[in-house]
Amino acid sequence: MKRVYAMTAAVLAAIGLMNLARVDRTNPPEDPAETIEAQTRIPVKVAAILRKKCQNCHSTRTDWQWYSAVAPLHWLMTADVYAAREHMNLSTWGRYSEEQRTGSLIGICEMVASNKMPPWYYQAAHYPSAHLSDGDKKVVCDWAKAEVQRSALAQNLNLGKGDER
Ligand code: HEC
Repeated sequence: MKRVYAMTAAVLAAIGLMNLARVDRTNPPEDPAETIEAQTRIPVKVAAILRKKCQNCHSTRTDWQWYSAVAPLHWLMTADVYAAREHMNLSTWGRYSEEQRTGSLIGICEMVASNKMPPWYYQAAHYPSAHLSDGDKKVVCDWAKAEVQRSALAQNLNLGKGDER
């Protein structure tokens, strides 16, 4: 019995120590004019899908659940969110170049179509709300492709203007 107490105490102490190493869980303020909603012609349905299934990692609107305060989950979740924002931040879409936007739009379609995003562990932890149906994947891809075309068209028009003398 004594050993069980000692072991429990050791485990609790270890978790306690782990929790001394903290990372800031920040949500930098969002400029409404820079969001993907403001910057693209996004159908309500697609916006809802991104909000529900992507923005917890890929935006500064992260809903930091209470368990994100507890190490080791604390480290895993903060690392994930910061990496995701680094790769693609839906809150700061307005700061991206045309190339970056096109790359991210193609990426969004590829990732959802191949079921790589949201990551499997996120889908498992948030089942079924983080899961995308085939219909969801199609509307996301249709919108992403339409946006890529719209921006290619806009760029061609700009190039055309440059040619005029
Ligand atoms: C649990 C956090 C999390 C969620 C939720 C999530 N992602 Fe990601 N995503 C990441 C991380 C972390 C990366 C960085 C690359 C990696 O580690 O695989 C990433 C990378 C990406 C990339 C690649 C960008 C690049 O530069 O290659 C795309 C595109 C993407 N995610 C789209 C989505 C979409 C669309 C959704 C919602 C349907 C989504 N993600 C949901 C964490 C997440």
